[in-house]
Amino acid sequence: MSQHPPQQQPENSKLPVAQTEEDYSGVFESDMFQVDENYFRKPRPARIEVFNIEQSDFEVKVRLLGDHILWGNYLWNASKCLSQHFYENQHLIKDKTVVELGAAGGLPSLTCGKLGAKKVVITDIGHEDLIDNLKKNVELNFGENCTHVEVRPHAWGEKLEETFGVGEKKETFDVIILSDLLFNHICHHQLLDSCEYLSHPNTIIYVSYTHHRPWLIKEDLKLFKLAKERNFSVEHYFDKKYPPMFENDPGDVEERSTVHVQIMRPRHISLN
Ligand SMILES: C[S@@+](CC[C@H](N)C(=O)[O-])C[C@H]1O[C@@H](n2cnc3c(N)ncnc32)[C@H](O)[C@@H]1O
Repeated sequence: MSQHPPQQQPENSKLPVAQTEEDYSGVFESDMFQVDENYFRKPRPARIEVFNIEQSDFEVKVRLLGDHILWGNYLWNASKCLSQHFYENQHLIKDKTVVELGAAGGLPSLTCGKLGAKKVVITDIGHEDLIDNLKKNVELNFGENCTHVEVRPHAWGEKLEETFGVGEKKETFDVIILSDLLFNHICHHQLLDSCEYLSHPNTIIYVSYTHHRPWLIKEDLKLFKLAKERNFSVEHYFDKKYPPMFENDPGDVEERSTVHVQIMRPRHISLN
């Protein structure tokens, strides 16, 4: 991910920041704060990519921003992998309620919207351009009057009651999608806060990811360690190879070409 803007937080960002030395572990070993030579160039325009399933007429149009500070401007292999899997296993999605966190272009959510999900809520951090872009993607794929797919701003762990209701009005979901989110190590706890709040006893959380910086695998995988500590079950589901997202990036190319998918389920929610 070296050719991209450094991962800085916007001045008015509400993103949780690292509090302890441990929160920072791994951060300074990465290239994340190196200023890229292209950083001060003109912003790139938005573009539309089309996701197709081979030998079918199934397609999803995904508008992507030219630039985004948290890498929301790419169609990540992790999102293609989950979309393909849902297409091939439509019973996982049909008539289900679905929420996606950190969706960027929202490919897996848009796929679920086309595969018969009852309700799909697509979320990402409240950058206006990203949220507007997601709304454009809903319109692009479902038209102006779509009611079963909606977009909401949501920073992990924040304003949960305001965004998803409380008490009898609280929304929970059958399926939660986390696609390519492990890289944001300092927000793992907040990500799990959202997963916890949005789960019911039978929720399935699909976590797809690539180790884009293979030297930080341990930091990436801390999400699952934390999840187990917080009483989620974690189960390896499958792995799939893709061409690497950034061929010339450093680190083992085999690792950078692999999408891993794990399933998490909440064990902390009792039926009573
Ligand atoms: C690498 S992109 C993945 C996008 C998409 N899920 C995919 O697989 O194509 C990471 C996304 O996570 C979002 N994100 C990162 N930290 C976040 C946070 N604390 N709260 C909400 N969204 C966050 C970013 O805005 C960005 O869209």
